[in-house]
Amino acid sequence: MSDSTIESVLQEQRVFEPPAAFSEKARIPSMEAYQKLYDEAAADPAAFWAKLAEQELDWFEKWDTVLDWQPPVAKWFVGGKSNISYNCLDRHLKTDKKDKTALIWEGEPGDSRSLTYTELHAEVCQMANVLKDMGVRKGDRVGLYMPMVPEAAIAMLACTRIGAAHTVIFGGFSSEALRDRLNDAEAKVVITADGGFRKDKPMGLKPAVDAALADNAVPSVTNVLVVQRTKQAVDWTAGRDVWWHDVKPDASTDCPAEPMDSEALLFILYTSGTTGKPKGVVHTTAGYNLYTHMTFKWTFDIKEDDIYWCTADVGWITGHSYIVYGPLSNGATTVMYEGAPRPSNPGAFWDVIEKYKVSIFYTAPTAIRAFMKMGDKEPNARDLSSLRILGTVGEPINPEAWMWYRKVIGGDNCPIVDTWWQTETGGFMLTPLPGATPTKPGSATKPFPGILADVVDTEGNPVGVNEGGYLVVKHPWPSMMRTVYGDDARFRRTYWEHIPPKDGQYFYFAGDGARKDEDGYFWVMGRTDDVLNVSGHRLGTMEIESALVSHPAVAEAAVVGRKDELKGEDVYAFVTLENRYSASDELKTELKQHVVKEIGAIARPGEIQFTDALPKTRSGKIIRRFLRNLASDEEVVGDATTMEDQSVLEKLRQGS
Ligand code: WT7
Repeated sequence: MSDSTIESVLQEQRVFEPPAAFSEKARIPSMEAYQKLYDEAAADPAAFWAKLAEQELDWFEKWDTVLDWQPPVAKWFVGGKSNISYNCLDRHLKTDKKDKTALIWEGEPGDSRSLTYTELHAEVCQMANVLKDMGVRKGDRVGLYMPMVPEAAIAMLACTRIGAAHTVIFGGFSSEALRDRLNDAEAKVVITADGGFRKDKPMGLKPAVDAALADNAVPSVTNVLVVQRTKQAVDWTAGRDVWWHDVKPDASTDCPAEPMDSEALLFILYTSGTTGKPKGVVHTTAGYNLYTHMTFKWTFDIKEDDIYWCTADVGWITGHSYIVYGPLSNGATTVMYEGAPRPSNPGAFWDVIEKYKVSIFYTAPTAIRAFMKMGDKEPNARDLSSLRILGTVGEPINPEAWMWYRKVIGGDNCPIVDTWWQTETGGFMLTPLPGATPTKPGSATKPFPGILADVVDTEGNPVGVNEGGYLVVKHPWPSMMRTVYGDDARFRRTYWEHIPPKDGQYFYFAGDGARKDEDGYFWVMGRTDDVLNVSGHRLGTMEIESALVSHPAVAEAAVVGRKDELKGEDVYAFVTLENRYSASDELKTELKQHVVKEIGAIARPGEIQFTDALPKTRSGKIIRRFLRNLASDEEVVGDATTMEDQSVLEKLRQGS
């Protein structure tokens, strides 16, 4: 957040009570009700979650132990057996929900489709049977590289149905990034499509899979299942590649869900950290199911006729937890949208809301800011009166955007839920409950019941009111990540040792800075580590630096975030060149393209600045703080005397 935003957030005094008519019908209708739940959960978290697990999920076998906590390793519902695909589908078929719409898909260009719970179940079973025929077994990993089509959700549910873990790789990642992730997970099968539509145009996905798998670069992969979407011409590797439409007609619509241990690997999702290599965040079966189910139910106050739309991509945790699993476990109707807002179609989002009478809408601050900039005309020209709750996620929301969202989209009548969470947390951690929590623009308000969050100093001591500190969680919760795939040491180091345990108290450190105000409201200030948040997408500076340095022209690179009005942050790279290369605009373009090739378009640097040297400490560490200030045209703060060579800073300031 920019200093001016922090300033305005500090001065933010507005409080919005939930509308009385809303609270009356809400699942959690008041702050007293919230507090009661919160206190009950805090007094005995295990008992709280056990009660909900019993009430809200179906089990093949009940657990013996609710929580086995050997810090930092948590096991939930040990001894129990369940299946998330069963909880999202089969159990609803025994109720009135069987003919209810499970999934509404709005595609490009002008395509649409909807599936009832019965239909979705049938297709999931078919794909599960196809995977089985390909030799996929319980415990195997399957890579997904998909456009936003129903088959993305079908593939996820098909994997988890047979006990195979999926690892979804966002369709915007490059073939190199795809290859690394498939290798790390040792995926047996890849599910993809010929392509998808991005901003009206078909773009290829299968070619990237082919490139990733070329020369046997991912030896674990034996088959590629391809969904036809764009009808682009694709290369074909006989024996390996299989069209979904070829095998589907003969696949049985019956495939019993595999009873899975509560702690069985459910999925791996790669996310960026402070080192060059992305981490495979591990989530397991029962705890993730329960927590995404409960957070979806209470935070979105879900009712039988709600039409819920989350604009994220299934390639991110938001898509996993709140397009697919949370909504379907609750038997809700979830909208999936293939398009993206763009200047040529500024009313696209509002058309979808109007067309399907969306009642709960969940999107990112970066999208809200983009729409705000386009003005009120488009939303005002649509009937948005179906909306009853608005949500936001991904980065701190500036109060201006929050107010616009409330007024122009919500007609001053919809509670806004600003949900703070992460890939690692699986579900919402800090969030208002719409019928209970008075909201303040820019604050994610209070912890979800069962979440013991706090703001502490480096020693784990709570900081004072309105003092900045580290955002931590002090007790395990059901959907917390279990480890970094294949790297337990990294899991401990990254999340549990940043703030050392004290008197048996462990602190999960999220990587964010925050403060708590006089009402106990949390204000998340953004990352305190070398992780950037570009349009709500998480990128590691080291990851982009490694990509740059892999280009022959680059000697050294330092990447920082530059404040950006729309994206929140943009990638700004300082680069020193090898002797035989000289700086030019062509080289800048080439380097930007190189990052796109290595990681994907989301990581493309907004700016590259060539420099003769980078500012370093006497021990040789790059002083990023200076670079951050420089990139954002701010005064360079801090002590420059620790610098090895004072003239470097001066030169950088002059733009070289
Ligand atoms: C990081 C996690 C959780 C789904 C999307 C991102 C930032 C997320 C908020 C919010 C302030 C937020 C944090 C967090 N973040 N939501 N409501 N207010 N910051 O998931 O890619 O794992 O990124 O996003 O910095 O650590 P992710």
